[in-house]
Amino acid sequence: MKITYFGHNSFAIEIKQKHILIDPFISASPLLNGKINILDLKADYILLTHAHQDHSLDAEAIAKNTGAIIVSNFEIATHYENKGITVHPMNIGGSWNFDFGKVKYVVAHHTSSFADGSYGGQPGGFVIEGEHKNIYIAGDTALTMDMKLIPIHTKLDIAILPIGDNFTMGIEDAIIASQFIECDKIIGCHYDTFGYIVIDHEDAKRKFYNANKDLMLLELGESIEL
Ligand code: NI
Ligand code: MN
Repeated sequence: MKITYFGHNSFAIEIKQKHILIDPFISASPLLNGKINILDLKADYILLTHAHQDHSLDAEAIAKNTGAIIVSNFEIATHYENKGITVHPMNIGGSWNFDFGKVKYVVAHHTSSFADGSYGGQPGGFVIEGEHKNIYIAGDTALTMDMKLIPIHTKLDIAILPIGDNFTMGIEDAIIASQFIECDKIIGCHYDTFGYIVIDHEDAKRKFYNANKDLMLLELGESIEL
């Protein structure tokens, strides 16, 4: 499993030679400043945690360019299906075996609407079991007791958790989340993109370290291999 960070909640995950994009917010990302051309991105699947523009902005253009299948909740999937894109609709608590692994769409406490205000269903996160490595992508969420359900089914190797506060969990709650999900290796996301969510990197890493957790803050475009 190879994980590449594009800022905010945008990641590319490679499992079994399949390219999975998470929440592509790239063309207008203040972090990237146009450094990545969305037409250069490979995608077999695009997983959307929720409809907010800072997660879904480039999904349509990338899906049309690559033929990728958009995987999300029923409302978001239907939104893209109506634009002629191939989709796979899911809903909270449901799993599906894709050709790269098993995906479960899990609870997130947040909201979900498109930029025009139309309904984007219930927001969620994804647990992916693929190639003997399991990853949890929390999406935008508060700390929630539902996170305790995840390790009942899945022994996680790594988790991508929001840490920017204001719109999602902050550092302290993300540390508790990493305890709830019983995962020691955390990739931080949803920080530094906007003024509301700027964080102190060293302070964040130290707080995780003091809780016996490893917080990774990847550079833009940086990949890690599991
Ligand atoms: Ni959001
Ligand atoms: Mn967001």
